[in-house]
Amino acid sequence: MTAQQDTKLHYLALLNDIASGERRAGVYLQAWADKTTDPELKECLAMVADRETSHYQIFDRRISELGYTWEDNDAPDFEERLRVSGSDMTDVEKIRWNQAKQGERKGPPIRERYEAAMADDTVDPLTRSLLRWFSDVESDSGSKLRQVYERVEGNTG
Ligand SMILES: [Fe+2]
Repeated sequence: MTAQQDTKLHYLALLNDIASGERRAGVYLQAWADKTTDPELKECLAMVADRETSHYQIFDRRISELGYTWEDNDAPDFEERLRVSGSDMTDVEKIRWNQAKQGERKGPPIRERYEAAMADDTVDPLTRSLLRWFSDVESDSGSKLRQVYERVEGNTG
């Protein structure tokens, strides 16, 4: 038994939080994609939802490779997010609702936490490389969604 096996990884909570958040985002973005009648928004939401679900799977696998088991974290607003995503609210209302929700978040944003881990040489190299790739994909998803949101919001003035 080495000391390493006895001590929990200091970045395990981060990996768990990423996997948990990605899993849920995959679910509620897909619920919105299934509901919207705007073809471009539908395609973008479905593409990002697929990425999120796949990130959950990859981080779940990485956690296992490191010798641990993924544990879901608390997300008190998940049911509400899912309900809004699948509701009859307009796309613009959903965009604004999501923006308001983001503003309410407490604690450091997950992006700050994984950027710190990417620069932390006590995190194992393969996980850091995974986090760099993940960060690039998240940025790309964010900018693609923002572009479509802007177009959707512009359409209705
Ligand atoms: Fe994400």
